Amino acid sequence: MVAVYPGSFDPATNGHLDIIKRASKLADKLYVAVLRNSSKNCLFSVEERMSQLQLITKGFPNVIVTSFSGLLVEFVKGSGADVIIRGLRAVTDFEYEFQLALTNRSINPDIETLFISASTKYLFLSSSVVKEIANYGGCIDDMVPQEIKGVLMDKLRGSPC
Ligand code: PNS
Repeated sequence: MVAVYPGSFDPATNGHLDIIKRASKLADKLYVAVLRNSSKNCLFSVEERMSQLQLITKGFPNVIVTSFSGLLVEFVKGSGADVIIRGLRAVTDFEYEFQLALTNRSINPDIETLFISASTKYLFLSSSVVKEIANYGGCIDDMVPQEIKGVLMDKLRGSPC
């Protein structure tokens, strides 16, 4: 199976890394794909996010970090993949994720979305939460990989704990 795990990853959290680890066991090849055409105001550039992801996934030989713009299903098809991986945390994720999966399937019914449930300890975790805590000087040690903590603190010019 060739799969794509798409997202903003601004920045990647331990929750993302957990999904990558687990998805990389299921897939022969896993593309971790950073969205380029986001209307979101991101803290890190696409290139910064890609190099952060490369750093934290260097132990996974079947993981390829890349980026995409335009429709996700087009990128998936063009990569020779047929599965989209998404992480599901709480019920609050469900409506958005279900809509995304159904929309993608209506555009290309050959591409399946596979949901991986977040591990309990990461149920509350999101990139926005991490940025907010770091911004106010809170401790993010258990929330992001060490490499990300460094670059995040540099970017925010604060000191966490
Ligand atoms: O981590 P995110 O920001 O929740 O990821 C959202 C992402 C990248 C999966 C989604 O925004 C996406 O696929 N965007 C590309 C455009 C697209 O194909 N949209 C789906 C049809 S509405």
